[in-house]
Amino acid sequence: MEESSPSRISRLASVIQINTAKYDRYVISQGLPSPSFDINTPFKLNLPEEIVQARDAVLEANSELQALLLGPLGHLQHQTLDHGRRLRASSRSEAISWDAIGAKTFVDVGGSHGSASIAVAEHSATIQCIVQDLPEVITEASRAALSAELEHRVTFLAHNFFAEQPVKGAEVYYFRWIFHDWSAKYCIKILQCLIPALKPGARVIINEFTLPPPGLVSNYHEWLVRAFDLGMLELFNSKERDADDWSHLFQQADARFRILGILRPSRSKLSFIEAVWEADQMFD
Ligand SMILES: C[S@@+](CC[C@H](N)C(=O)[O-])C[C@H]1O[C@@H](n2cnc3c(N)ncnc32)[C@H](O)[C@@H]1O
Repeated sequence: MEESSPSRISRLASVIQINTAKYDRYVISQGLPSPSFDINTPFKLNLPEEIVQARDAVLEANSELQALLLGPLGHLQHQTLDHGRRLRASSRSEAISWDAIGAKTFVDVGGSHGSASIAVAEHSATIQCIVQDLPEVITEASRAALSAELEHRVTFLAHNFFAEQPVKGAEVYYFRWIFHDWSAKYCIKILQCLIPALKPGARVIINEFTLPPPGLVSNYHEWLVRAFDLGMLELFNSKERDADDWSHLFQQADARFRILGILRPSRSKLSFIEAVWEADQMFD
């Protein structure tokens, strides 16, 4: 019987193994440091051409291997797009329990076409979700995409989050992928625009990355969140935030916000940053 030839992914794995060994041998024999974020790491290692080629072969094979293992859509979803499913999973696993919060009205601020609200409404049979976004984003197409079961429980409302929140007295105001687009000055304004609508005990829940302390999570997760952090700085003069940053943001907006906890469900890259509005009464 003819022996089957190795698949492309096995061949790529061999390329990685052979060339990594070549690179490693050279670096160790020369006493060179591994590139790192250390302040003293050399900017350039001045590697001979043969070792540069070995290194590039590893990097190219690694990138092709990732693409072949995940496929193009899988690769994108892995990094950014898979949060509807993750949110559903988190809700199911009670990482955040909308029912325990007593959420009857869930306002999805900057909610685009409502994928987060749809996931939440599918999870809880009684919750009413209001998706807010700019007028050009809130279109008939979003409403038309809802199932008959959800069309009365997921509604859409044009609203600019830099203006006073028009939905007063909801139990939850939810923001996914909003704050990392804005520097602190604007984030504070977004939070302050909520205040006239907040009743005592209302929750503000932010669903975003929380930068972990260095070295606490896998290299892959660390690379992903820190690459996003740099990207946000380049694109919007904004950033991904760590636990202290979230705490400062709420405190700068108003001392009556208190963070109850920051929780990252085990299969999600995003955390739930849950804050409560601790005021005695609702102000108009
Ligand atoms: C990164 S997307 C996140 C969308 C959605 N929350 C999600 O997780 O799928 C940011 C959203 O904020 C909306 N947005 C930007 N500026 C806004 C504003 N001033 N008022 C309301 N929505 C805004 C955008 O239209 C966009 O839908």
